[in-house]
Amino acid sequence: MSQDAYRLKRPDGTETELPVRKGTIGPDVIDIATLYRDHGVFTYDPGFVATGSCESDITFIDGEKGVLMYRGYPVEQLAAHSSFIEVSYLLLYGNLPTATELAEFDNMIRRHTMLNEGMLAFFKGFRYDAHPMAMLSAVVGSMSAYYHKEMDASNEEHRNIFAHRILAKLPTIAAAAYKLNTGQPFIYPRNDLNYCENLLHMLFAVPAEPYKIDPVAAEALDLLFILHADHEQNCSTSTVRMAGSSGANPYSAIAAGISALWGPAHGGANEAVLEMLEEIGDVSQIGKYVEKAKNKNDPFRLMGFGHRVYKNFDPRATIIRDMCHKVLQRLDRKDTPLFDLAQELEQVALKDDYFIEKNLYPNVDFYSGIIYKALGIPTSMFTVMFALGRSVGWAAHWREMISDPKGKIARPRQLYTGPAARDYTPINKR
Ligand code: CMC
Repeated sequence: MSQDAYRLKRPDGTETELPVRKGTIGPDVIDIATLYRDHGVFTYDPGFVATGSCESDITFIDGEKGVLMYRGYPVEQLAAHSSFIEVSYLLLYGNLPTATELAEFDNMIRRHTMLNEGMLAFFKGFRYDAHPMAMLSAVVGSMSAYYHKEMDASNEEHRNIFAHRILAKLPTIAAAAYKLNTGQPFIYPRNDLNYCENLLHMLFAVPAEPYKIDPVAAEALDLLFILHADHEQNCSTSTVRMAGSSGANPYSAIAAGISALWGPAHGGANEAVLEMLEEIGDVSQIGKYVEKAKNKNDPFRLMGFGHRVYKNFDPRATIIRDMCHKVLQRLDRKDTPLFDLAQELEQVALKDDYFIEKNLYPNVDFYSGIIYKALGIPTSMFTVMFALGRSVGWAAHWREMISDPKGKIARPRQLYTGPAARDYTPINKR
């Protein structure tokens, strides 16, 4: 057997080889693309636990070691030294920008923040209590109506403008959804402000009085967005790639990604964590809830714990926990009951055999909601915040997918377990 091949034994005892492909780092992959054609069998991997769906040079995760890198740069370094806009450039264009490139990119994003006024009118159709994730997905989907004719996926400039628009307009849409929920007037973007300052302005300013942007809040949001910016082939990103693989308008592919993110097993977990902490209420109740999480007959799970890929600390959770300390201190919060409760819950779970054996550690969502809450962002907006950060990852993956000359429409197969062929019975004979 050659070193770069995987030996497969057929039921008749004969053997064949499947090629093995090597990435820069990370496990090798067995290339099974010819398996059905040459051997008449499919593979079976519900949830894609061991399946690489594409080739990508954007993000790398080592789940055993707790490593996350964007374009080769460790997320810890980017969190310490970079900004969300710089990271966005890196994810989209592959390298860190020069000062001129960064200034041009930043300017470009600032100049795409406004929405078509017609798009704003959509918000009048939603009920006052519509969930902001539903509004985000619907209004981003509507961008495909505004930018349809001028979106030619084979045109590199169009692909770039798409990415810039997604990045620039999502905060405006998110803030409009928040304003609808609060009954306050929509606040237009200000291009003199940076990305996170502008978001805070659109969320919290009101026409009746001046609004002072808190630099601590802007800095905290920037860090959270860096940490959320990409996470390779996660559920929402794979959804964007899959929807986009048919050649669908990329804005509708992003809307599909937003819908996938909303679920509590994915981005919706940050909202669920805060609701869980509020339900637990007090450290005295932790034991009871940890027991519930371990009970197979109880659907309760410790939200913000566990990850498909990380079987060690999620490096993002460690950074966010430290940021939590800083934000709460700098906002002069002496009384931090939810943070105290979360830290105690983490300690109890990390010492518990169930969580140790199953390698369940806090993930990115465990502490992020505490920061959002401290910044005055309501729980229903938490997953929207995740979507703002992840929007650039989605756009980067769509661009990579659509430019791949080997790209194909995503079309998995199945193990059929329904009835075998049978004849139609007339209704009076059933
Ligand atoms: N609480 C209690 N038990 C858990 C938990 C948890 N949070 N997570 C996993 N388990 C158990 C699970 O019951 C299973 O046990 P068993 O092997 O006895 O059946 C085992 O651990 C493996 O879990 P799984 O559901 O098969 O693993 P998965 O890789 O399919 O799911 C997960 C990963 C993140 C969906 C899951 O850990 C979970 O539901 N966590 C809570 C929700 C959450 O925090 N999601 C955010 C993920 S990070 C942000 C993002 O990427 O969106």
